[in-house]
Amino acid sequence: MTTIRPLVAGNWKMHGLSVSLAELLALKDRLAAPVPGTDIMVCPPATLLAQARYGLRGSDIKLGAQDCHPLAEGAYTGDISAEMLADAGASAVIVGHSERRTLHGETDALVNAKARATHRAGLTAIICVGETEEERRGGATLEVVGNQLRGSVPEDAQASNTVIAYEPVWAIGTGLTPTQDDVAEAHAFIRNELGRLIGEAEAARIRILYGGSVKPANATELLAVPHVNGALVGGASLKASDFYAILLAYRRR
Ligand code: PGA
Repeated sequence: MTTIRPLVAGNWKMHGLSVSLAELLALKDRLAAPVPGTDIMVCPPATLLAQARYGLRGSDIKLGAQDCHPLAEGAYTGDISAEMLADAGASAVIVGHSERRTLHGETDALVNAKARATHRAGLTAIICVGETEEERRGGATLEVVGNQLRGSVPEDAQASNTVIAYEPVWAIGTGLTPTQDDVAEAHAFIRNELGRLIGEAEAARIRILYGGSVKPANATELLAVPHVNGALVGGASLKASDFYAILLAYRRR
């Protein structure tokens, strides 16, 4: 089996002012001794990217953004393109997060266009998929995730420019997590589906993150699940001490 370098990405969502950069600097200090074989990323609000890049000089911590417009530029008041995010210091963009799918009505087609925009700008797309509580109770988890993958993942996506994040909607921000068996089933299914979509070779190398209530207390057990190649962390990424405690699971790996 190929060894896949894990990625742990923190999604700050709509949290963080300039003062919050202190958390990023605290994380940089703690990571003066890097976590071997692991990529670490923080996705602050777009307003903080440029300052964060400056603060993180000399560190291996990567920066990501949380959304982008599908086009490179134009008359789209308030929107931000992937090119602009790259220019501000991002190396990746989260696309299709469930909060955007639900609260902004983003369809798979739009998420696909945003992923392609991210690639066009030379960035990595972190494409999120995941079922709602109702869908899980109805036994539709794999069908929903399969449809999202088919609709959202560009057919020329590669392991070098694409990451999939499996985030059950009911696990986001709730403190609930699926069982290890459920995570294993979803991740194995995702890798298999990706094989059909982008070819076995790319699918075997692509990173599939688990997201949804990842905490220091469950990071080790989630990382132990087959086909889990890292984590997308929301709430617990806001404090350097919590995020670092999650990273310790990767140090012990
Ligand atoms: P959470 O969020 O870790 O706060 O559950 C995860 C996410 O939405 O990416």
